[in-house]
Amino acid sequence: MSTLTRIIDTVAATAPDIRAGLTGRRTYEAEENPSGEAQLAADLYADDLLSERLLALDGVATYASEERDDIDGNPDADGYHLACDPLDGSSNLKSNNTMGTILGVYDAPLPASGHDLVAAAYVLFGPITTMIVAEGDSVTEYVIEDGDKRAVREDITLPPEPVTYGFGGRVPEWTPAFTEFAREIEQELKLRYGGAMIGDVNQVLTYGGIFAYPGLQSRPEGKLRLQFEGNPIAYIVEAAGGRSSDGTGSLLSVEATGLHQRVPVHVGNSRLIDRLEAALAD
Ligand code: AHG
Ligand code: MN
Ligand code: MN
Repeated sequence: MSTLTRIIDTVAATAPDIRAGLTGRRTYEAEENPSGEAQLAADLYADDLLSERLLALDGVATYASEERDDIDGNPDADGYHLACDPLDGSSNLKSNNTMGTILGVYDAPLPASGHDLVAAAYVLFGPITTMIVAEGDSVTEYVIEDGDKRAVREDITLPPEPVTYGFGGRVPEWTPAFTEFAREIEQELKLRYGGAMIGDVNQVLTYGGIFAYPGLQSRPEGKLRLQFEGNPIAYIVEAAGGRSSDGTGSLLSVEATGLHQRVPVHVGNSRLIDRLEAALAD
């Protein structure tokens, strides 16, 4: 079995344990994560489970996550370098809404370029637990039951006629150019915004459309993190025939300058991302 398969299977096997551990871990911890955000007990629980199990695999050199300052493992060892968002959208735990786990598998020490990704995946904790895995240009959806994954949709591509959009950040914080673009999109598509990128991106992957957490006036770099969120999602959406952008070009081409660096994120159908880039360039 390849190292990549063992990594993906380990994430799938850990998903039910993460899910089972959510009850009773809806409280905030005293500490903040390296991005200065409050951490829930559930964030730390998921992070610990994933790091322990993934670092135990042969062929995994390092594990880094949104929830820890430093990279664990050995950056000089042979093997893959993993970047994880253990629980994306964990503030949704309070209101019992969708969340997920995101994984990027890089073939270079972190922080690395999106072009160093060899696979990316996410688990979605919805009414059922599903997992999307992209490797090369193939994207597969699995259902996870009892820790095993069963393929339910293969060779996923974005539906050509977009249906949904979801844009993060408060509207008064958007730039004038993004606001103008958003006003056009509102006339064309249906709003689907759930406060967990992974849930909103899964809508885009299922129905076609666009998700963005743009650069804001008070924070031009946006909110989402390149290594743990932007790159893996870009890799998946591009593998499904869509596009990603930081506003000017593919997220995968953004220079990696720091482990916890943020980046404006826009992903979806190619035509919509082309339009977004044209709008932001005006
Ligand atoms: P995380 O829980 O990993 O910190 O990520 C939360 C992110 C992302 O999932 C979502 O798109 C965005 O934050 C939501 O932000 P707002 O609550 O500001 O809309
Ligand atoms: Mn996140
Ligand atoms: Mn998170």
